[in-house]
Amino acid sequence: MDRFYITTPIYYVNDVPHLGHAYCTVNADALARWHRLIGDETLFLTGTDEHGAKVADSAALNGVTPGEWTDRTSSRFQEAWKGLEISNDDFLRTTEARHSATVQDFLQKIYDNGFIRIDKYKGLYCVGCEDYYTEDQLNSGNCPVHGRPVVEMEEDNYFFELSKFEDRLIEWYEKNPTAIRPGTKRNEALSFIKGGLKDVSITRTSLTWGIPVPWDERHVFYVWYDALINYLTALGYGSENNEVAKWWPHVHHLIGKEIIRFHCVWWPAMCMAAGVEPPANIFVHGWLLVGGQKLSKSMASEDTGPVKLTEITPASLTEDFGIDAVRYHLLRDVPLGTDGEFSIEGMTLRYNADLANNLGNLVSRVATVVGSKCGGIAPSPDEHSPLAAAARDAVTESGEAWERFAPHEALEATWRLIGAANAELERTEPWKAEAGSVDDVLGSAVEAVRIVTILASPALPAICAEIWRRFGFAGTLQNQHLPADGLWGAGQGGQSVEKGEPLFPRRTSGS
Ligand code: ME8
Ligand code: MG
Repeated sequence: MDRFYITTPIYYVNDVPHLGHAYCTVNADALARWHRLIGDETLFLTGTDEHGAKVADSAALNGVTPGEWTDRTSSRFQEAWKGLEISNDDFLRTTEARHSATVQDFLQKIYDNGFIRIDKYKGLYCVGCEDYYTEDQLNSGNCPVHGRPVVEMEEDNYFFELSKFEDRLIEWYEKNPTAIRPGTKRNEALSFIKGGLKDVSITRTSLTWGIPVPWDERHVFYVWYDALINYLTALGYGSENNEVAKWWPHVHHLIGKEIIRFHCVWWPAMCMAAGVEPPANIFVHGWLLVGGQKLSKSMASEDTGPVKLTEITPASLTEDFGIDAVRYHLLRDVPLGTDGEFSIEGMTLRYNADLANNLGNLVSRVATVVGSKCGGIAPSPDEHSPLAAAARDAVTESGEAWERFAPHEALEATWRLIGAANAELERTEPWKAEAGSVDDVLGSAVEAVRIVTILASPALPAICAEIWRRFGFAGTLQNQHLPADGLWGAGQGGQSVEKGEPLFPRRTSGS
């Protein structure tokens, strides 16, 4: 048994969650569920990033205090995740007392270790990014991410001496060649480091909505410096329930590509400065696009033309397609590491092809024919069935794919078993045979359904629980563990199978 600690970015509460957040969170959830399935002790953390100018500004715009605003919006994230069957073990809000305690403790350590100095700072700031830019990073004067004007800021700031960590970071990258995946993103971060690092300003006096600097009360920490530390707050860093030693070596940060610099440059250096090992694994994913544009809260608040990006809320989609179908589409159609288009047409195609025609069809066919040819009682599987090998391959290949953070390939491997089971039924046509003569074929089909249900459960938790119930498989789906329960013949038949309503009624585009 191993351990698996997975985190998502903590999301800004300047606005409500959109599908881009759902994309990252659903992927993290499926990975967490897979690791629980293989028996790993698993910790899955998500949460909300509540300090800083961006959040304070949207509270002001909405005429409420930052505290009221963050309470309200943070609960919208929590509701959205319930609505997508997200199985996070913890939800961290950066306005919680446990977080300010950890942040102050961690940064005081960096200060005491001599890596923080005071200086003047002047620069071009994007409130959308909560970050400074240099002239040459801008797109005709606008922020390259949000496409809106940057503002000139000058303040007395404390600086983290990032420049002192250039060599140590390069050495860490070389010693840990797979810590940051995919390799292209690792190289991007490494060449940024090799290009030379400047010290970064980590406090603000222009703002009160933040965590106070323990050694100088006039300042609050810059929101990114408070936010990154959340991954250690959740482990009780510096508290009585300190579980850093238990979980930190097993951490996996899943992040979007626009926050590489914070996670792959600043964060490892901050860890080094505080005397903590840098994060062991960071996986960088791409963007969900609509009409070629990144789905984004900050952009949607401006006039972005005909597509109102935030209008496609996770809740409106799950109401329409069902929770599991939305999860499946996000996992199957935008491979982790690349960008991908989101469209209702794409979602509908995937739904009909994989869910209605393949999985739905297999389940309903097997239940129907077991009803008509076996009196509704599942026969036992045939050890010589060609499906035994197909099942073995699906278990192995999907396991390897989850391990590589490739949910789309894990699902492809699982769906190959569904395809093989459907093809075997078409070849043998048990519905045309005499009752009693097709027990081997149907027992094997039931066994394939059992294994498919286990393998698909990280993506489709609710539907798979329903299939498990209808097919009367022993125990609960949640208590199945691989590899033992994925072996051909671990299901022995003898139970009654119920037909039930179609799991995925076919859809026409736009309906
Ligand atoms: O950056 N496609 O928060 P944030 C895919 N608070 N993923 C997307 C996406 C899209 N169109 N839009 C957002 C912050 N995401 C900071 C993080 S962590 C210590 C602090 C996902 O609300 C993606 O994972 O802007 C991205 O990295 C994250 O949401 C950023 O959310
Ligand atoms: Mg963002």
